[in-house]
Amino acid sequence: MKRSRVNEIIREADAFIRSFGYVMPPFAYWSPQELRERRPAGIVDVRLGWDITDYGRGKFDELGLFLFTVRNGRAEDLARGKGMLYAEKIMISRKDQLSPMHRHAIKAEDIINRGGGKLVLELFMPAADGGIDRQAEVTVPTDGVIRKLPAGGLLKLDPGESVTLLPGVWHAFWGEGADVLIGEVSTVNDDLTDNIFAEPIGRFSEIEEDEEPLHLLVSDYDHWLR
Ligand SMILES: [Fe+2]
Repeated sequence: MKRSRVNEIIREADAFIRSFGYVMPPFAYWSPQELRERRPAGIVDVRLGWDITDYGRGKFDELGLFLFTVRNGRAEDLARGKGMLYAEKIMISRKDQLSPMHRHAIKAEDIINRGGGKLVLELFMPAADGGIDRQAEVTVPTDGVIRKLPAGGLLKLDPGESVTLLPGVWHAFWGEGADVLIGEVSTVNDDLTDNIFAEPIGRFSEIEEDEEPLHLLVSDYDHWLR
């Protein structure tokens, strides 16, 4: 993915998010230079910030997701059972833009339709070995109410609706009818280790540097903030 395209997606996402009255935190707008100079551990170490992925396939409009991690705790606190054990993201699934089938080993997440089109999730329960169970009925809480679907059933969330995905539940999702603003409230999040994809796929994009970054992506931190 070209850096110029990443910059363009950041500008489009920022306008889309603001159109719903959601405003991102101040550090979202720091320049790469400012982030390099200030380098707060509370941002850099827990990887808060911009995250744009084409899952390594180079077709962002068909396979991709915009994310911004607003807050995140520390995985070490999970073992202690207290501390900042939570995370929050704001995301955009564009119309018919797929986030491919995956599950998490640690993270439970509420996926919330914050506005725009319908958010469609394809769901499967985990088999005993953690793989996809293509037979088992899917049972998920949606805003406190249990919903049952056949294996691979499509759960369609209107604006305001949400689903709780416990660790192990397989999910893929996309926007239907229009782009969708998505909230995620979850257990502390580690995108380097806790995404298990059904197909071999990358979580982050390869960036081709054809212009200066408007803002750094979390996947830039290791390289740019060294
Ligand atoms: Fe997920």
